[in-house]
Amino acid sequence: MKEKIEKIRKDFPILATQVNKKPLVYFDNAATTQKPSIVIDTITEYYSKYNANIHRGIHFLSNFVTDASEKARETVREFINADTVEEIIFTSGTTESINLVAFSFGETFIVKDDEIIISEMEHHSNIVPWQMLCERKDAILRVLPFNDAGELEIDKLSELINPKTKIVAVAHVSNALGTINPIKKIIKIAHKSNIPVLIDGAQAAQHIKVDVKELDCDFYAFSGHKSYGPTGTGILYGKKDILEKMTPYKGGGEMIAKVSFEKTTYNALPFKFEAGTPNYIDSIALAKALDYITELGLDNICKYETELLEYATRELKKIDNLKIIGEAEHKSSVISFIIDGIHPSDAGTLLDQMGIAIRTGTHCAEPVMQHFGISGTLRASFAFYNTFEEVDYFVKSLNYIIPILK
Ligand code: ALA
Repeated sequence: MKEKIEKIRKDFPILATQVNKKPLVYFDNAATTQKPSIVIDTITEYYSKYNANIHRGIHFLSNFVTDASEKARETVREFINADTVEEIIFTSGTTESINLVAFSFGETFIVKDDEIIISEMEHHSNIVPWQMLCERKDAILRVLPFNDAGELEIDKLSELINPKTKIVAVAHVSNALGTINPIKKIIKIAHKSNIPVLIDGAQAAQHIKVDVKELDCDFYAFSGHKSYGPTGTGILYGKKDILEKMTPYKGGGEMIAKVSFEKTTYNALPFKFEAGTPNYIDSIALAKALDYITELGLDNICKYETELLEYATRELKKIDNLKIIGEAEHKSSVISFIIDGIHPSDAGTLLDQMGIAIRTGTHCAEPVMQHFGISGTLRASFAFYNTFEEVDYFVKSLNYIIPILK
């Protein structure tokens, strides 16, 4: 993998650019990943040659692009090993995927005093939609805590579960800590009590092979734009039998079977959940991104990124007064850290001057910051196109800016 990196980097035009007159070092991959030429070119090609609204036309262009869009759905199905394309819903991202479930599952199955379990390390996208549901239905949100290493206390899950529990929703990988959660165990525990589980895979699907059948999760949400695909794309996987029972999320075109003023009936899966003109050209480009990942091989990606993570962790730990936030045994390629006496955004601003893009702040995970009693962290997050040399430059740059900020 290592030898291939220089070649791979050439597939991502932005990596050859400069920021503040320095070669770009892009370490903000947990926020969004960069796009390979195949994704950029596909968007240009389809808008240049094949654009027409899908599922609506009898003409060549509409049929052509409808076909391509449904082939893209098949690529996604294969990518996560779902049983059928009916279980693959195109959304605008993980946030919309979770909102869809919180609304449609919530409207169908949740009543007053029911309980929903999430974890303390969730991104706001896997907190707020459930809180909104609890407000609508007078239901109760329960929170599974994590320890100071950033690992979920899953022994406490069984204590939280009771006959009122209707769904468990947890992150596969924490965006703020990098922890890879033991989701298979969590799913098993919940299923013992017949409780469905939603996995927020926004920080996982691009790093770790996901097999929804093997996991036996009921819902799996992930983002296209974090998986080297276009912005405004995302996926919701749901088990067919549950999706079939769920009420639609949005009303409009294409999600209907028949409309009259007396009664509307709904389309079959997955279209029941795809109201309005979908983001079809971006979905087609997303499939190209997933093909690209598959060609590199998620096992190779995971191995290389883990080496990069371990190396960066070792090197960062050599810096005085730097503390890593989130030291779970199993981590994906995210390192959050603080430096004594230095505000994360001051450090982030100076790093930007050196061409290094990282994220600073709460990372949309304020409860994680509250756990540690901090206002935010600096976060470096890696992708397979990052290099050990970039990590060295990052560490050198930190050593340069720390005395300036002290
Ligand atoms: N959820 C994205 C992040 O963690 C935006 O940065």
